[in-house]
Amino acid sequence: MPHTHALLATIILPRLVDAPTPLTFMRGYGSKTYPVTALTWGLLAISIIVVIIITGLVVVGVWRRRARSSDSIAQVPVNRGASGVGSVAIAVGISSLVLLGSVIWTVVVLADINAPAKKPALTIEVTGQQWWWKARYLSDDPSRVLTTANEIHIPTGEPIRIKLLSADVLHSFWVPALTGKTQTVPGLTNTTWLEADRPGVYAGQCTEYCGTEHSHMGFLVVAQKPAAFKAWLNAELKPAAPPPPSDATALQGEKDFVFHCGTCHTVRGTDAGGTVAPDLTHVMSRAMLAANTLRNTPANLAGWIADPQAQKPGTKMPTLYLSGPQLNAIVTYVRTLK
Ligand code: CUA
Repeated sequence: MPHTHALLATIILPRLVDAPTPLTFMRGYGSKTYPVTALTWGLLAISIIVVIIITGLVVVGVWRRRARSSDSIAQVPVNRGASGVGSVAIAVGISSLVLLGSVIWTVVVLADINAPAKKPALTIEVTGQQWWWKARYLSDDPSRVLTTANEIHIPTGEPIRIKLLSADVLHSFWVPALTGKTQTVPGLTNTTWLEADRPGVYAGQCTEYCGTEHSHMGFLVVAQKPAAFKAWLNAELKPAAPPPPSDATALQGEKDFVFHCGTCHTVRGTDAGGTVAPDLTHVMSRAMLAANTLRNTPANLAGWIADPQAQKPGTKMPTLYLSGPQLNAIVTYVRTLK
């Protein structure tokens, strides 16, 4: 029942996310969305007024005709007087003006949000892939390029350029509170931008059907005050701290992690250097696991590593059939990746 599954996920997913702004598009939280939400409410209001006027005219017309003729409907003469044609011409004129006004308003908004008022200082390259999001913070200084996944931190009050790539099929990047939808297309670089006015966690979602786990291809945009963002970026740029020498389980876990997980995942500072799956160097700094599917709790982490196929059927992460001690060691190690 893929449709039921997707529908349930759409309803339940925002509830799972601890975000103050789940997938909301009727209210904006940044300069790009204010004109769009004004347009949305404006067109909605115009549509409601049109429906009320037309319903009123139909009801009045029917009522007047019924009141005038008590005979059968076959005896009602068709009114071919010029006054009727005049009313139609006036109504068509008004409708055309309202429609033209709506089109002009829409085009003006589209032009307005095409580019931010000032040039973005930060560019984040976001790659959609089945079924998670890779985020690379670009910099002229190679030592300041950061790769992370599924939780995109941004500073508040400034526009951020988002370069969109796809590693496999079509996806679509959507953070309704901050920006509209933009596709990620294999072999093509699309560009969009977003801006958050105030700190907050804004839910994002893939909105182009891209396979089994499309509905579990979520992400979060975490907007922070510029100083807090800088601190976050500097912390994330650091390689993972090795486990404390006294923690034998975590030390064993690091070895097991490199052996079992390191072909797909990177933990900077270790021999785990895979690039086909999310970078886990600071995975414990993230609120969610598996592309905004599970809260990052110790139990969910253990369940996810033990049997990802049970948590997110079809995910590219294989179930490794780890022994109890191996699972315990790997979970203990991963929990040190703060
Ligand atoms: Cu990616 Cu839908």
